[in-house]
Amino acid sequence: MAKAVTTREAGYQVLSDPRFAKDIRHWEDYRQGRIPPDWPLLFIVAGKGLLTTDGDTHRRLRQPIQRAISPRRVKELLPDVEAVARRLLAGLATVPAGEETDLQARFALPLPLEVICSLLGVPEEGGLREELHELSAAAMNSELGADAILHTVGQRFPATLLSLIERKRSRGDRDDLTMELVDALDAGRLTEEEVIGNLVVTVIGGHETTVNLICHAVRGLLTHPETLAEVRARQAAGDDPWPEVVEEALRWESPSRNVMFRYATEDITVEGGAVIHKGEAVLVPLPAIQRCPHAFPDPDRFDPGRAENAQHLAFGAGAHRCPGASLARAEAAIALRLLFETFPELALAPRPAERVPSLGINGYRALPVFLRPAP
Ligand code: HEM
Repeated sequence: MAKAVTTREAGYQVLSDPRFAKDIRHWEDYRQGRIPPDWPLLFIVAGKGLLTTDGDTHRRLRQPIQRAISPRRVKELLPDVEAVARRLLAGLATVPAGEETDLQARFALPLPLEVICSLLGVPEEGGLREELHELSAAAMNSELGADAILHTVGQRFPATLLSLIERKRSRGDRDDLTMELVDALDAGRLTEEEVIGNLVVTVIGGHETTVNLICHAVRGLLTHPETLAEVRARQAAGDDPWPEVVEEALRWESPSRNVMFRYATEDITVEGGAVIHKGEAVLVPLPAIQRCPHAFPDPDRFDPGRAENAQHLAFGAGAHRCPGASLARAEAAIALRLLFETFPELALAPRPAERVPSLGINGYRALPVFLRPAP
């Protein structure tokens, strides 16, 4: 059994109070053998990685990742992000005016996928980047049966990452996040299981969420034409409106659906008076609490620059707060600026954007748009 909090304040408390642990051994149902071994989410919540550990172990696992996506590294990456975005948009320019196209498949997904793969030093050739996306999407698909999860995610994902490491070792690769983790492995600071666990979290976290951020921001602007007009006017006046658009998109439609379980290490009263008892699991459903009207007045309105925006929890809070936040923010701002500059008449297609069935992420199967109106 798991509980879920329903307000922004209670969500913040669960995410930031270290008495809510991430190590599954604090979960009474798990300790008592009540969680079946073929439960599809087990791979995610029991894997060995920085998202499932606490305290010193967590700090040791997080260090190499935090170093690899430090603000300085992110700044160095930005010209490459812009180049990838421009290349993808040039590819889209060949779509005939008036023809429906999937903006997610053609732009919002390949951009963060290429960026995270360059950060990890995944070779461009050989289809490995696409395979990593397929495995990540499977890991986030809550409709996949237990056998498929075990095969695809429990076995193929680690095997693919191990073969990536072998390939990179034999090529003598250096200076990327995978090789930093391999150095830590060779120096005895990380085990092989921990390296794989960290790579899984970084591959999934590094692109499955950013794609949603870009798509939600596009939907937010295209469903609020007055807001889009204001954004355009600010840009024409030499202002940079995109960071505020990105921040509001993070609040309006959190790219993650639930922040996965934390376990109470003692009885804890959360804001509102409810008690999470020792050994109970608790979820933080971000899209719901970020529409909490107490914290965000008129929450359904897409309103870049709203005063209370710094309160959103889209990147989590506390010790596990997303280390990729500045990369994701910068990537999305670049993507949106170039997209709306290149296709000023961009419009949503009437076919609705269908959501993916996932407990972990809040995204679409596709984002059908018209890049230019029919002549
Ligand atoms: C819009 C984009 C993103 C969103 C919304 C997002 C969201 C989150 C959230 C909510 C957490 C905390 C989970 C928890 O507390 O249990 C998290 C952790 C994490 N994210 Fe992100 N993320 C994004 C992009 C990225 C990127 C680009 C990377 C890597 C380059 C990344 C890597 C990670 C890692 C490694 C963790 C685990 C941190 C830890 O446990 O200490 N994320 N992310």
